[in-house]
Amino acid sequence: MTKEIKLLDKVFELFIKNETIEAAVNKVAKNLNHSLKGRNPVFLCVLNGSFMFAADLLKRIDIPCEVSFVKLNSYSGTESTGKLKKLIGLNESLKSRTIVIVEDIVDSGNTITKLHKELIDIQVEKILIATLLLKPNAYSGTIPINYAGIEIPDEFIVGYGLDYNGYGRNLTDLYRYNN
Ligand code: IMP
Ligand code: MG
Repeated sequence: MTKEIKLLDKVFELFIKNETIEAAVNKVAKNLNHSLKGRNPVFLCVLNGSFMFAADLLKRIDIPCEVSFVKLNSYSGTESTGKLKKLIGLNESLKSRTIVIVEDIVDSGNTITKLHKELIDIQVEKILIATLLLKPNAYSGTIPINYAGIEIPDEFIVGYGLDYNGYGRNLTDLYRYNN
């Protein structure tokens, strides 16, 4: 039987085990180390969801870099509301820098599209996107997703930083909701 967990009112089933996540993190880190050599990038991690991916990814980055955090979220429950909250944490020090946006998941793309626009407004040099998960069928943005760890179907996922109404972020494996 597939392993199941319950968070609040919903049951989720095991989807991707941590060893597969780790392999994906290794792949993304290797590509970033290779292509960002000499660029002194700032890794800009999007809270809350990316905290676990960001920690595991950054431990594998071996080039000189800075790490910073922003907060911005479009989700309420298991449906994207499309409504974006205010962006907190961007500052002038990013001007003229190479920025790597670190995301847990790219779904509709609203979040990265908004962040991308704000980074252009403060005149950063270059923007790259690294996400653990990508839902290619849900993504409606035009910005290229440069580094995607794992492509997944358009389903609601929890674990490894991703939450259902605040719960499930601490799980080391990924679980999916079957409705
Ligand atoms: P987007 O703006 O629609 O691309 O969604 C981006 C944000 O919504 C992500 O950074 C997540 O925090 C959250 N999100 C998107 N899909 C899921 C999911 O399947 N489970 C949990 N959170 C999600
Ligand atoms: Mg997020």
